[in-house]
Amino acid sequence: MKSFIISTSLLLAAVSSTLAAPLSNSRIPKLRVRPRSLLANATLPIAEDPNDPSAKYIVVLADDEKRKWADVFDEMGFNTNELKDHKDGFYAFGASSDDHGFRTFALEDGTSIQTFGTAMRAFTMTMFQSEAEGMKELPNIAVLEKDFPVGTGLVEESSYEVASIPDEPVNITEYSVSGLDKRQQQGQVVQQNGAPWNLERISETRAVSLRGRGVTQLAFNYAVDSNGGTGVDVYMVDTGINVNHVEFGGRAKMIFSAFGQNNLRDDHFHGTHTAGTVGSRRYGVAKNVNLFGIKALDSNNRGTGASIVAGMEAALAAHLRRVREPNFIGSVMSMSIGGGGSQAQFNVLQRMAQAGMHVSISAMNDNKDACSAFPGGYSRQLPIFNVGATDPSDGKASFSNFGPCVNIHAPGTNILSTNSKDNQSSRVLQGTSMACPAVSGVIALEIVKNPNLRRDPRAMIQHIQSLAIRTQIRGANSAQIMLNNGVKR
Ligand SMILES: *[C@@H]1O[C@H](CO)[C@@H](O)[C@H](O)[C@H]1NC(C)=O
Ligand SMILES: *[C@@H]1O[C@H](CO)[C@@H](O)[C@H](O)[C@H]1NC(C)=O
Ligand SMILES: *[C@@H]1O[C@H](CO)[C@@H](O)[C@H](O)[C@H]1NC(C)=O
Repeated sequence: MKSFIISTSLLLAAVSSTLAAPLSNSRIPKLRVRPRSLLANATLPIAEDPNDPSAKYIVVLADDEKRKWADVFDEMGFNTNELKDHKDGFYAFGASSDDHGFRTFALEDGTSIQTFGTAMRAFTMTMFQSEAEGMKELPNIAVLEKDFPVGTGLVEESSYEVASIPDEPVNITEYSVSGLDKRQQQGQVVQQNGAPWNLERISETRAVSLRGRGVTQLAFNYAVDSNGGTGVDVYMVDTGINVNHVEFGGRAKMIFSAFGQNNLRDDHFHGTHTAGTVGSRRYGVAKNVNLFGIKALDSNNRGTGASIVAGMEAALAAHLRRVREPNFIGSVMSMSIGGGGSQAQFNVLQRMAQAGMHVSISAMNDNKDACSAFPGGYSRQLPIFNVGATDPSDGKASFSNFGPCVNIHAPGTNILSTNSKDNQSSRVLQGTSMACPAVSGVIALEIVKNPNLRRDPRAMIQHIQSLAIRTQIRGANSAQIMLNNGVKR
């Protein structure tokens, strides 16, 4: 429970920073609120009004709305009672100072309002369409949208063989800088023998040549700066991380769960795998980063618009606290998740850009236009990476989305990384979910090497695109560039 204590204080600190004096006068009209008994008991044999259906909504407050939650709801016309004991509450942390954080407010009919957010305050509730339409017009509401299901679109594993993985120690050999690279400005370049193929690919200028090596074997070589992204914070918005996995060497911590405080872990496996590609010792691109686990997807690898926004907001809030600490280097949000578009997601990403957070998102796995999968599709408006996946021959992975909203490619098939089921094992997965964390890792490397880019996501994108290898990604019609860490160029 150590991680829980750490994270609570983390969020509390962020909370206190955003407190402000409540608005003194209220000019906000009351909402017309319908009797809510239909929502309270769906088993009642009363048909819902087909002209006014109910649904769950995500509602984000305007930035200048600083008053207590109870006052906000009261003014809207809802008679609420805050639940002191909400063990079934949606969000993990009781990080509630006066009015921020994760709280549950009961309505008279037994339904409830769940609040979340510290840097950006929001809530979810089930309401009638007529109520939602009224609420959307209120001046203290920034976003109001229906909640929706979200996932990672994991690619089925049936299409390839998983080879048995030899349990060998990692062989990292030091090379002199001059032997490898002329442009390298600082630091030592080390070579890891016994790396997975995706790491070799992002440190070499050409496609991997298997030469009898199995693509899922630890038989490849990875050249990387020895500092390995030291001290950079990488927020993994995913299913959680098995922080006890030996490959994380104690650098991984869970800081948030959208599924209760007893769920600060990875009860799927997707999140432990993606975290391993960012920063594990053996499978990781940047072997010295801090990995912060944000559980926004459940044990079935599924979440909702609300759980994703809450997770992203938790990353932003933690970043805003960390930037004020002396050992802060830089932050990256890595998010191998996608689905329908959401204004709330857009708003958090926009704030991240303003706050100097770097973001990498998976382009998703439907072999279609990546501009229709979000939040990656926001790459046209916001400084975020939207990552397409390639196979070992540098072709577009058959499943990868493509098109103008993809702005870089990285290896995404047959990717070996950490598994969540115990503290030692690995597994092979494929998807743009596996390509996105490789980009997050390279961002961490470049944050350390380029202090001037630490809080400049737009310039970082240009820099990493310039390091990338210009090559034909067969089957992709944009972003003909392959992620590269630049050590051999
Ligand atoms: C819902 O209605 C049924 C049938 O009237 C009743 O048995 C049940 O207790 C009600 N549940 C709640 C939560 O009110
Ligand atoms: C580590 O790699 C170097 C260089 O390839 C090799 O000479 C050495 O034998 C390897 N050591 C082990 C323990 O495999
Ligand atoms: C993994 O490590 C944790 C912490 O040391 C331990 O409690 C847990 O039992 C370990 N899991 C397995 C499967 O060995």
